[in-house]
Amino acid sequence: MNKIKLRYQQVSDARKFWEILNHPDFIYFPNKPKTIKDEIDYLRLNREKRKNNLEYNFSITIRDDVVGAIGVMIDQRRPHIGEIGYFIDRKHWGKGIASRSVKLVEEFIEQELHLHRIEIKMNKKNKGSVLVAEKCGYRKEGIQIGKLSIGNEYADAYSYAKVVGKNP
Ligand SMILES: CC(C)(COP(=O)(O)OP(=O)(O)OC[C@H]1O[C@@H](n2cnc3c(N)ncnc32)[C@H](O)[C@@H]1OP(=O)(O)O)[C@@H](O)C(=O)NCCC(=O)NCCS
Repeated sequence: MNKIKLRYQQVSDARKFWEILNHPDFIYFPNKPKTIKDEIDYLRLNREKRKNNLEYNFSITIRDDVVGAIGVMIDQRRPHIGEIGYFIDRKHWGKGIASRSVKLVEEFIEQELHLHRIEIKMNKKNKGSVLVAEKCGYRKEGIQIGKLSIGNEYADAYSYAKVVGKNP
C-alpha cells in the first residue's frame, strides 16, 4: 500500500473535509460541518487547541492527497487520558487506512504526549469503527447508553480502551 502519513491539519483542508464528511454514507459521524465556512472556522482553532493541550488533529495523506483525518482529544479533568477519533474518505474505506493511522497517532502520543490511557468510542452499529479498535488492540469495556447525539437522535456507544506507557 502507498505510504500513509499524518501532518497537522491546515485551513486549506476545509473543502476536502467538508466533502468527505457530507457523503451520504457518513451516517455515524456527529458534528458534520454544514458549510465550508464552518469547517474553516473549526480548523482555525487547531493551533490554539494544541497550545492548550486540548486536541491534536491530523490530516491523513497518501502521496500528499488528503484521505481522512484523525485526532486525539485530551480529557481535561484527567489529562493522562486521550480519546482518538477518525474518519476516512468513502472512496478509501476498507484499505486499512484507519487502522494504520491509529498506530501512527499512538506513536505521536508515545513520543509527545505521554498519556497512560487511550479511548475510542463509537456508535454501537458502526461495524467499521469497531473493527478498527479491535484490530489495533483496544479492549471493549462496555456500552455507554445514550452517549451519542446525532442530529435529533441519541445512540448508544461502545467504549474501547488501551493502557499505554509507564505508570507515572
Ligand atoms: C470507520 C472508518 C473510519 C473505517 O476506516 P477504514 O480505513 O475503512 O478502516 P480499516 O480499513 O482500517 O478497517 C479495519 C477493518 O474493518 C473493516 N471495515 C471497514 N469499514 C467497514 C464497514 N463499514 N463494515 C464492515 N467492515 C468494515 C475493514 O475491511 C477492515 O477489516 P479487515 O482488517 O478484516 O480487512 C470509516 O468507515 C469511516 O470513516 N466511517 C465514517 C466516519 C466514522 O464512522 N468514524 C468513526 C467515528 S467513531
